Amino acid sequence: MLELRSVGYTVHEGDTKLDILKDISLTIDDHKLVVFTGPNGGGKTTLAKIIMGLVNPTSGRIIWNGQDITGLGITERARLGISYGFQQPPRFKGLTVRDLLTLASGDEKMSKDRCCQYLTKVGLCANDYLDREVDVSLSGGEVKRIEIASILARNSQLMIFDEPEAGIDLWSFARLTETFEQIHRTGSATMIIISHQERIISLADEVIVVGDGSIRHRGSAADILPQILADTLGGCPVLTKGGADL
Ligand SMILES: Nc1ncnc2c1ncn2[C@@H]1O[C@H](COP(=O)(O)OP(=O)(O)OP(=O)(O)O)[C@@H](O)[C@H]1O
Ligand SMILES: [Mg+2]
Repeated sequence: MLELRSVGYTVHEGDTKLDILKDISLTIDDHKLVVFTGPNGGGKTTLAKIIMGLVNPTSGRIIWNGQDITGLGITERARLGISYGFQQPPRFKGLTVRDLLTLASGDEKMSKDRCCQYLTKVGLCANDYLDREVDVSLSGGEVKRIEIASILARNSQLMIFDEPEAGIDLWSFARLTETFEQIHRTGSATMIIISHQERIISLADEVIVVGDGSIRHRGSAADILPQILADTLGGCPVLTKGGADL
């Protein structure tokens, strides 16, 4: 179980104090699929990075399976079963796709068949990719899918995906949502998925809307989706309030 207790993150830019996250408290039970959604700049990625240990909160505690992990770094949290896939994944020159999957799995060697299983889940064919380097020669969508495959290979207890849909074509997206559904159905991991996609939001046990650094709403997909759709249909306030001569 993951628990955030009054987590805050404040940065100082010159004389200005920016409260990026304000007093976030939440609990996520094992085997749940929780979606974080909300407007750009609301604080979702920062929250995910705080859970992974990539960003240190300025207040509050993070408790994982009863242990206070607030002071632990990324490697220790990875060892405790937490993994995070970046919104914009880094590239690793000199490392092949097979190397990346093998490292992620923690095994010394990984058979082509096993690599293929993970790559298929994100709509990639192992024959075409296993020996490719995870460098700038890969397209944005390819590198994103390879990173997601590496999170799957890690087989963590808590998997955090940051906008897995970003830059991914419709066919691979369909394959990926099936994979999320399957992980959820078999209860093999707890998942936090940051997403703006209705299809992914509808899979969630719980949807948490993060806006302006706070939890704005939380509830079931059935409760929250209509509210989100109603909010977004409101349109741009500039255009709807006397913006005719823009
Ligand atoms: N170290 C920092 N210094 C200054 N501002 C920061 C810092 N980290 C995050 N921010 C700001 O905090 C806000 C939240 O950023 P975050 O990346 O968490 O948003 P997000 O909800 O993931 O947005 P998106 O949907 O666009 O991915 C943004 O306005 C961002 O510019
Ligand atoms: Mg983000």
